[in-house]
Amino acid sequence: LEETIDALAVEPGKKYIDATLGSGGHATAIVKRGGAVLGIDADPEAIAFAKEEFEKQNITKLKVALGNFRDLSAIAEREGYNNVDGILFDLGISSHQLDTPERGFSYRFAAAGLDLRLDQTKGESAAQLIARASQRELYEIIATYGEEELADRIAGRIVSARKLSPVASVGQLAEAIGTDTKRRSRVFQALRIAVNDEIGSLKAALVQAKALLVPGGRLVVISFHSLEDRIVKQFLRSGGWRLITTKPQVPRSSERVANPRARSAKLRAAVKQ
Ligand SMILES: C[S@@+](CC[C@H](N)C(=O)[O-])C[C@H]1O[C@@H](n2cnc3c(N)ncnc32)[C@H](O)[C@@H]1O
Repeated sequence: LEETIDALAVEPGKKYIDATLGSGGHATAIVKRGGAVLGIDADPEAIAFAKEEFEKQNITKLKVALGNFRDLSAIAEREGYNNVDGILFDLGISSHQLDTPERGFSYRFAAAGLDLRLDQTKGESAAQLIARASQRELYEIIATYGEEELADRIAGRIVSARKLSPVASVGQLAEAIGTDTKRRSRVFQALRIAVNDEIGSLKAALVQAKALLVPGGRLVVISFHSLEDRIVKQFLRSGGWRLITTKPQVPRSSERVANPRARSAKLRAAVKQ
């Protein structure tokens, strides 16, 4: 949190977009430093929680908007946030989402439906994707987004399982993957990335973020797997940026102990020229 707020160089009276509001930890910290924030999230539940929380705490310099950051420009324009001093992306899903069984994000809740969508009212769930995709497509998703070496075998096992009955619950998918928990995490992550088109959304959003920033404005991105980090790295090297981090910043060892879920986080920050 501290490193992110420092990287954004928050100053009183300036405007910021938090494109991944979640539970509002970062956004609230920006407001505490005197910034005004537009917080965006694709998850209606996250937005409802944030609205209630900010009203309760009487935080007024924080506007919230439901939407996918792939539509960043349109959302920012609509909310009057089109010339901003900083934009933050803290990618992936929140601990709250991961720990809510009905979302299907975690292999720990066997009875939960296999959903994995950020917004459960839109698009195809993971169960629907598994029911319609070819074995080749499943293999590519698991190999590319999960960087899983046994992708071939796992895709085959999923296809065999769905011949017997639809793979519609978390437990059914977990069983098809096998007992290795790291492998389970990688496959669930891969399907989540595919279901939400997370790579396509990130690429689209980065271009829009650059256009929304004033010269001297800052972009800060925290990513959690190498594919995302590579996209951010290449985007920041494509010109028009002064890099604040030439190598990504990683959590301090004390944070890795206190918050193990942050272990794989990589922060990159740059100033728009
Ligand atoms: C790691 S959490 C953010 C936590 C937040 N920084 C905090 O302090 O509480 C990521 C959030 O981004 C949201 N998200 C992920 N991809 C998104 C997208 N394409 N558009 C909008 N929100 C997205 C998720 O729903 C989730 O709430």
